Amino acid sequence: MNILLIGSGGRENVLAWKLAQSSRVGELYIAVGNPGTAEYGQNLDFDESNQEALLEFALKEKIDITVVGPEAPLAAGIVDLFEKHGLKVFGPRQSAARLESSKAFSKELMQKYQIPTAEYESFTEAAKAVEYLKQKGAPIVVKASGLAAGKGVIVAQTEAEAVEAVEIIMKDEKFGAAGAKVVIEEFLEGEEATILAFCDGQTIVPMIASQDHKPAYDGGKGPNTGGMGAYAPAPVVTEQIKADFKTEIMEPTLQALQSEGLEFKGIIYFGLMIKDGKAKVLEYNVRFGDPEAQVVLPLLETDLVDVMEAVIEGNLDQIEIKWKDKKALCVVMASGGYPVDYEKGKEITGIKAAEAAADIIVFQAGTRLENGKLLTDGGRVLAVTAMGESFQEVIDKAYTGVEKIDFEDFQIRNDIGQKALKK
Ligand code: AMP
Ligand code: GLY
Repeated sequence: MNILLIGSGGRENVLAWKLAQSSRVGELYIAVGNPGTAEYGQNLDFDESNQEALLEFALKEKIDITVVGPEAPLAAGIVDLFEKHGLKVFGPRQSAARLESSKAFSKELMQKYQIPTAEYESFTEAAKAVEYLKQKGAPIVVKASGLAAGKGVIVAQTEAEAVEAVEIIMKDEKFGAAGAKVVIEEFLEGEEATILAFCDGQTIVPMIASQDHKPAYDGGKGPNTGGMGAYAPAPVVTEQIKADFKTEIMEPTLQALQSEGLEFKGIIYFGLMIKDGKAKVLEYNVRFGDPEAQVVLPLLETDLVDVMEAVIEGNLDQIEIKWKDKKALCVVMASGGYPVDYEKGKEITGIKAAEAAADIIVFQAGTRLENGKLLTDGGRVLAVTAMGESFQEVIDKAYTGVEKIDFEDFQIRNDIGQKALKK
């Protein structure tokens, strides 16, 4: 079976790694991939946003399944286009991808179907948004409704910060059209966790819970990032929370989509805030989380191709999805200054040395090769991932891996996994 994987980040590196383990995979192509994905398949030198070129390639090379990693191509309708030409694609169509591409849409859906989430209002006029947030008071959360590469959410501690956020989003148009609408919502306290789920439109199956570390600095301080590290399974998601999640959040979300006439095939990412044993939805995404994928997929026992095929064919109820009884943890090595200002082009050394230890894999995110040298090429550069029997073991292994790797001015969090240890 020939597979085309779309994307170029850490998530796609782990997807390529996992797909390449399947005995069913013949050719694996990645568009555009990165030097990490090139170890598992053939990187294609395409413009990722050129869907027509990708389609032409998929038809010509007789691609059996196209796996879409990131949200942008889903929101741009790549699944609709490929399906129109009879191709099988793993991911939701454009209309269902609105679960992520429009926060106004997803909040409305949650409200309509009584799925627990923060109280909110959405606005197309800055003045009305400011009036509302002044009435509610800080802390309060301001979100650009559209896709903003994970940067369109401002958790404002003061009213002034919230007003500034509205101005940056709506008047300065920092996130372009994504900020034409803003969602202003109640600040939720608690501990965050992620539950990813496979969904074929009729059946939805949760994966093991994971926990990302979004703030840039130790102790959960500093600006929000795409994620500085993750681990799985997340102990904050107790058996009780899992059970409630299924009946109060997961199944109702599928029913809501069905009631709206939206057939969802692919991954639903539930970003949760947990407090006093109760979970509320912070956000939906329509793809694997990054870096959650780096810790969830290594624990997946079942062949990922089998699962993806079942999702596409609508047979998800026919297969059993098994998990390894282990822990996984990754520490993201980012460029100094990320997520604000950072330089690229620093030479990376030590990946092989780090991977020489058992159960350590270094997934690449923002890297490129130049004259045989591996260089940094983004904010999040590497995800040093460890597997083991206990959280203490995977923390020690991952940080020992980090110590072997070097590039100028790298930035890490030193406390990845500490919350799991405390539980
Ligand atoms: P989102 O992209 O909507 O998940 O927001 C990104 C991050 O902002 C989340 O992972 C949370 O850390 C934070 N956040 C979003 N919404 C809220 C909220 N209502 N209360 C507190 N924190 C939030
Ligand atoms: N790790 C957060 C995300 O993938 O959206």
